[in-house]
Amino acid sequence: MGRGPTNQYYKSINDSYIEGTLTCLKPEVIKQDINIDFPLVLNIEPTNACNLNCTCCPRQKTVSYQGVHYLPIKTFKQIIDEASEYSQLVMLNLHKDGEPLLNNDLSEMIAYAKKKNIAKTIHLNTNGTLLGTIAGKKLLESGIDDITISIDAAYPETYWKLKGSRDFDSLNKSIESFIEYRDRIGFKTTIRVKIMEFALVSSSEIKAFYDKWNGIADQVQVTGVHDWSGEISDLSITDETSSVRYPCALLWYMLAINSNGKVSICNVDWDYSGVVGNLYEKKLHDIWNDLPIQNIRKAHLDSKWNYVPVCDLCVVWVSVGDLKSFFQSRPEFVYPNAEQ
Ligand SMILES: C[S@@+](CC[C@H](N)C(=O)[O-])C[C@H]1O[C@@H](n2cnc3c(N)ncnc32)[C@H](O)[C@@H]1O
Ligand code: SF4
Ligand code: SF4
Repeated sequence: MGRGPTNQYYKSINDSYIEGTLTCLKPEVIKQDINIDFPLVLNIEPTNACNLNCTCCPRQKTVSYQGVHYLPIKTFKQIIDEASEYSQLVMLNLHKDGEPLLNNDLSEMIAYAKKKNIAKTIHLNTNGTLLGTIAGKKLLESGIDDITISIDAAYPETYWKLKGSRDFDSLNKSIESFIEYRDRIGFKTTIRVKIMEFALVSSSEIKAFYDKWNGIADQVQVTGVHDWSGEISDLSITDETSSVRYPCALLWYMLAINSNGKVSICNVDWDYSGVVGNLYEKKLHDIWNDLPIQNIRKAHLDSKWNYVPVCDLCVVWVSVGDLKSFFQSRPEFVYPNAEQ
């Protein structure tokens, strides 16, 4: 998610984002643009189904509690219609806990959002396994702006250990063909490949990954890893850290919509302890201004990190930096409703 110790291979996903992160807006953008009408960044999960079972990811536990869901296209369009009543989003991300390409309506969703000019950038993370299929072609035809492919390895053995799949070589070939197809047809989509700094990924593997993909993909991204708030126990965190904790800025600019309609504070909320409303019961604008999220913002301003369990051991808040005094100067995000 955030920046790890590798201080190279960093690029911004768009100019509103902190370099080296796919999640964190620049403080000056936050200060200028946050508002109580609507979040600046919306994450929508097309499905929480997945065709891999990565050791670094708690998705299986999520579905054991929440079931597997596919967001209906009708619901997606309602979300976009509501978002279009407000300022353009800085980012629309189409992923959370599953593999987005498993929703057959994904390309229609993106085309709809694109037609409405809903966001500066429409982006998704994918494990890449379906990019060589018709779903990959349709994804490019949808007009999507930016794709991050989580390859996560340069060697088949690492891929096997992290992702539980032996299809590493065919994955790489189909991603190369996907990029060639993009170039042949002339689609404008930015294609980024990503590897994460897990302990079993050596610096020479990161270099090998960079050497393989530099010049093929548009960007090669290396990100730090987090442990999903303590859930993945045998993992060394390499995301940025800080000895001083401060309120998580994401609470002031982001919402994440799960495929079952529950609305979470962010994409880290794999256990749904950060659910602040339900799309089928309330408008997103109202959820953005309702007590559950106001109370969580207030808890962060009061350093009550365990008010929401998923926030307690999270590290993803670090990369934006300390904006506490700025947030204190914007009481409309908290008062008059928040619990004291
Ligand atoms: C949960 S996945 C969903 C999208 C898609 N299935 C994929 O793997 O790209 C979203 C992002 O989380 C990343 N991710 C998974 N486990 C992680 C961890 N422990 N630390 C940091 N990022 C992680 C994945 O690499 C991916 O970029
Ligand atoms: S990281 Fe992505 S591909 Fe891997 S299990 Fe999680 S959702 Fe699936
Ligand atoms: S601190 Fe809470 S709101 Fe912020 S990224 Fe972590 S889980 Fe999400």
